[in-house]
Amino acid sequence: MPLTLLFAAPSLWPDFEGPLRRALREADLAADLVTAAAPDRVDYIIFAPASPLQDFTPYTACKAVLNLWAGVERITGNPTLTQPLCRMVDPGLTEGMVEWVVGHTLRHHLGMDRHIVNPRHLWDPTCPPLARDRPVTVLGMGALGSACAQALTALHFPVTGWSRSAKSLPGIATLHGEAGLTEALSSARILITLLPRTSDTENLLNARRLGLLPRGAVVLNPGRGALIDDDALLAALTSGHIGHASLDVFRTEPLPVGHPFWSHPGVTVTPHVAADTRPDSAARVIVQNIARGEAGLPFLHLVDRDRGY
Ligand SMILES: NC(=O)c1ccc[n+]([C@@H]2O[C@H](COP(=O)([O-])OP(=O)(O)OC[C@H]3O[C@@H](n4cnc5c(N)ncnc54)[C@H](OP(=O)(O)O)[C@@H]3O)[C@@H](O)[C@H]2O)c1
Repeated sequence: MPLTLLFAAPSLWPDFEGPLRRALREADLAADLVTAAAPDRVDYIIFAPASPLQDFTPYTACKAVLNLWAGVERITGNPTLTQPLCRMVDPGLTEGMVEWVVGHTLRHHLGMDRHIVNPRHLWDPTCPPLARDRPVTVLGMGALGSACAQALTALHFPVTGWSRSAKSLPGIATLHGEAGLTEALSSARILITLLPRTSDTENLLNARRLGLLPRGAVVLNPGRGALIDDDALLAALTSGHIGHASLDVFRTEPLPVGHPFWSHPGVTVTPHVAADTRPDSAARVIVQNIARGEAGLPFLHLVDRDRGY
């Protein structure tokens, strides 16, 4: 009997149908990939948070819900979702995040803005320091944070990573716990936040913790808007304690017209474009996970409901 795979993210069907069918053929997995099916016949649900499917109760035979996005904060609280939930760890998405983070890090490190916007044609021959002299901290050393930390290490930035659990990564100083966070913030000339949004990480960067950063530090937030207290960030930017913030994610998206982030000279807004799921590579990840489930192997990228990520 072929498996029944319900694709429950209708607006993404045109992008994912071809790549998923190709990945199923490549893996030699017999499956009906459909956008509608009798709930009790569905083996796997391919899902996105905006899906019209929000009641998982009738999907009694479903072996896993496979999310197309990395972030799961809009799903973990759904009380009808009792099936295993896997989040997206996609090599294409990771590559995109590394490019955004490296690009924005180099922009601030090299002081590119001074030369791109130079209306008075000033000739200022001040050279930036080398990367090796500009410490960077990455909060969140998961799939994305550790890939960004490695890329920045390869460019010779001294990188400190902070996460919930202890880690060991070549060439990267890794810290955890509250004391570790204080140390990680105190040295960060550039701070990158790649934590998930959970009850533990919401407003993690409050006024007190932003105050631990060295004066003039730059904040890059491609993680989630709620990780940073907006008012505290604006106050720190206005006082000059924080030199600039490049923000890709916001509490409300799209960022509302008139929000102070749009007009603050110390803020760059990018519209949640740091890293998109890439259908070709993501389809292979989905199919690989289904094949693992069918072979009796543990699913990859399982979400821990208690931790919320
Ligand atoms: N802007 C975009 O386009 C975009 C795209 C994709 C994802 N994202 C965001 O990026 C986030 C990270 O993605 P990912 O794939 O790297 O996630 P991940 O692999 O689950 O990594 C999360 C990291 O955060 C750490 N962490 C979680 N809660 C913590 C806490 N309370 N204290 C300290 N560390 C904590 C984890 O620590 P442990 O390693 O110890 O578990 C882990 O290192 C996503 O959740 C999403 O919000 C944004």
